[in-house]
Amino acid sequence: MTDEIRRGLAGVVVDETAISKVNPETNSLLYRGYPVQELAETQPFEAVAHLLWHGELPTGDELAALRAEERRHRPLAPDVKAIVDLTSLGAHPMDEVRTAVSALGADDLAGTGTVLDASGSHDDNLARSVRLFAALPAIVAYGQRRRRGLGPVHPRDDLDYAANFLWMTFGEEADPVVVSAFERSMILYAEHSFNASTFTARVVASTLSDLYSAVTAAIGALKGPLHGGANEAVMHVLREIGTPDEVGPWLDRALAEKRRIMGFGHRVYKNGDSRVPTMKHALVALAEHVGRPDVLALSDALEREFVARKGIHPNLDYPSGPAYDLMGFDTATFTPLFAAARVTGWTAHILEQQAANALIRPLSAYVGPDERHVPGSAGG
Ligand code: CMC
Repeated sequence: MTDEIRRGLAGVVVDETAISKVNPETNSLLYRGYPVQELAETQPFEAVAHLLWHGELPTGDELAALRAEERRHRPLAPDVKAIVDLTSLGAHPMDEVRTAVSALGADDLAGTGTVLDASGSHDDNLARSVRLFAALPAIVAYGQRRRRGLGPVHPRDDLDYAANFLWMTFGEEADPVVVSAFERSMILYAEHSFNASTFTARVVASTLSDLYSAVTAAIGALKGPLHGGANEAVMHVLREIGTPDEVGPWLDRALAEKRRIMGFGHRVYKNGDSRVPTMKHALVALAEHVGRPDVLALSDALEREFVARKGIHPNLDYPSGPAYDLMGFDTATFTPLFAAARVTGWTAHILEQQAANALIRPLSAYVGPDERHVPGSAGG
């Protein structure tokens, strides 16, 4: 055992995983051996979800079965809608999603006898994973609509996951360019080894708590701007800058104030994030589709200038923020979209943790006062 402290667990290998491989040398990311960009170019999101849970891409029958199950769990349950409706309209949508998932768990686990029964079997947890995968789009879509004073839109069985998600959000069928960009973003966001939210989920699962508790905790971890909240933060930054001409003076001020520039940098990738080119491609297609070259001009200008000054490269949140904006999502909905995608990775990791569990319980180096005693006590 070593007493060396690695703050933020930086560089610490905590456990093994067969779900994804992040290679900082080549800036590559593999899901179960497949390069993520290949999956994003060729597969529907449902097939990637199956891959993450089962280790192999689905056969035609397996994909059809998952799609049928996903459709079955799509509608927003009345109890969950009621809970969402009780959430303050001023709350951040991530708080709403966290609360809704917690409520789904309470509903699904009702009747569980004791804490000893809560973690459940592998099959129980696989079924719960599909349920969450299917339920989150309705929760996220309704959250955005509620903020706009609109009611929920019933899902459409003739549409697959990505197209139906957009349908439930906007109440109109999305153009194939938009569906394709959205689906790619979901695949790119789905999994990323022991990132902060996934590790959080594994910590909770390691206590033999239930899958919903682990996912609820992961949503809390994802909300922060150093993690999933960055896609929303990118949009605030781009709006604050305004035009490409303002990039230089804005950066002068931001760097003088030692601000973090959102959407840049990564704990593992130091020379670029392999997911960025695929998402950038989708962003370019979207900007052309909706006739907004100004969005690209601004994001390119900030990227050029920041990389030139600091050598810090964009991460996936940098192109996905403006892409979600062009799709018509409210800025506050961006991180819930990330959660809807990452729930596949979280649940795959929870299943993996449960299959070979060891309680995650690290040590700390105590730096507080030496032992002392309350005056008047036996030791005082
Ligand atoms: N803007 C300005 N400076 C930065 C940035 C940034 N975005 N990222 C890193 N740096 C600087 C940092 O100030 C530090 O400089 P110095 O050594 O002079 O103090 C140096 O680079 C190393 O930074 P670090 O914080 O030690 O590196 P880290 O590996 O802990 O940070 C990070 C990773 C993602 C927290 C950080 O890059 C960051 O805050 N980025 C902005 C937020 C963001 O985009 N988050 C999304 C991450 S990717 C998606 C996800 O996993 O959720």
